[in-house]
Amino acid sequence: MTPARALLVDDEQDILELLRITLSRMGIDCRTAPDLTAARRFLATETFDLCLTDMRLPDGDGIDLVRQIASQFPQLPVAMITAHGSMDSAVAAMKAGAFDFVSKPVDLQVLRRLVEAALRLRAPLVEQGVTQERSVLLGDSPAMVELRRLIAKLARNQAPVYVSGESGTGKELAARLIHLLGPRANAPFVPVNCGAIPPDLVESELFGHRKGAFTGAIADNPGLFKAADGGTLFLDEVAELPLPAQVKLLRVLQEKKVRPVGGQREVPIDVRLISATHRDLAAEVINSRFRKDLFYRINVIELRLPPLRERGGDIPLLAEHFLTRIARQNGQAIPRLSASALAAITRHAFPGNVRELENVLERALALAEGDTLEARDIYLSETLACETAPPIACSWPEEPTVPTVSLEDSLGEIQRQVILRALEENHWNRTAAARHLGMSLRALRYRLTKLGIE
Ligand SMILES: Nc1ncnc2c1ncn2[C@@H]1O[C@H](COP(=O)(O)OP(=O)(O)OP(=O)(O)O)[C@@H](O)[C@H]1O
Ligand SMILES: [Mg+2]
Repeated sequence: MTPARALLVDDEQDILELLRITLSRMGIDCRTAPDLTAARRFLATETFDLCLTDMRLPDGDGIDLVRQIASQFPQLPVAMITAHGSMDSAVAAMKAGAFDFVSKPVDLQVLRRLVEAALRLRAPLVEQGVTQERSVLLGDSPAMVELRRLIAKLARNQAPVYVSGESGTGKELAARLIHLLGPRANAPFVPVNCGAIPPDLVESELFGHRKGAFTGAIADNPGLFKAADGGTLFLDEVAELPLPAQVKLLRVLQEKKVRPVGGQREVPIDVRLISATHRDLAAEVINSRFRKDLFYRINVIELRLPPLRERGGDIPLLAEHFLTRIARQNGQAIPRLSASALAAITRHAFPGNVRELENVLERALALAEGDTLEARDIYLSETLACETAPPIACSWPEEPTVPTVSLEDSLGEIQRQVILRALEENHWNRTAAARHLGMSLRALRYRLTKLGIE
């Protein structure tokens, strides 16, 4: 493997130097940036395996950098250097997508462990193979064969595509395939969950903003359209866009230019738009929750993903695919599915579609003993509402913890509780738990190892 590369962001020269020396001794190539602007410039032009950033920087907040990395470079682990004893900022950093934090004054041993853990997340080539494999839309049913044919065809043109289908049917996977099979494959694919952005931030997130455009706009933000320039922007849950943002989106699609919030000039952009929602968008139009003109603009080509129950014949193939993948990931032997287990899953209606099947098998694999999955290992809940898992009630300690317990320890305990709870509620499916917690699977895996949860 090539030497690992780290981006270090801090405005205090001696801390920056301390970090650089420590990491260089570990054989890591370092780039140092004294502020957000310099950090963003490095991110735009070079690739990194790790980023460490301070919280307070001369031109903005390190949290913004964490957020940007989490959305634009989800594979890049970023850790926050927090002020001594500041639990709030550590929590905020991790909510924003940091994989860990280290508090000042930096304990070098803690730092080294954190760096080693982050670098273990570096995707080995095999894993990249897995990602490729993950981009395959499986199924031999006539509906899936037709779907793949359509995808290959429309990957070659640039018209906006609207992907419809129930939750868990593979909408995002289809969008990625359209991108991968087309001429934009080497440019970014930027997925955005419109429902996850606070309504008043939607415009600045999508179209960018200029420094000083509104309170809190402490630095320029290029926006997600710009991040996807040359590539594909996937607007997931597009029905959740607030109406004013819909107006602006329509304009952007027509003009092929964006004007960042507070900006004077329009910036040309070249983005292919794919949108999706699990809602009935036509019904949203009738109910005046979605603009008709925008609906027509984004719905130039509609791709409908059939629910799994309409193509039950694909279940055995999908089941085998998921079992192989999950077992490989866990380093387990690939299990067999007994006839009774297969009969049980082919009878099930799967309201949560392919994702539910994947979750059911992951859970079965975690709990099964021996190398054959039996019907009793398969937990199929009729009431399992995969779409809307209840939020996790998180129990913070009521009293400030006793003075002998360190900040790290008490944070660790809170994390352990929240994570265990999420795993339990998602039937020990790590992918689902990570989604529930709003973190990537890699971040969750890292945390599980760190907390010693098996
Ligand atoms: N045909 C398929 N072949 C292989 N894997 C699939 C297929 N369809 C879906 N999956 C897998 O099922 C899971 C859910 O797919 P995806 O996230 O694309 O669904 P979605 O329609 O976007 O769901 P949601 O509406 O909940 O966001 C993913 O792990 C995906 O890889
Ligand atoms: Mg989706």
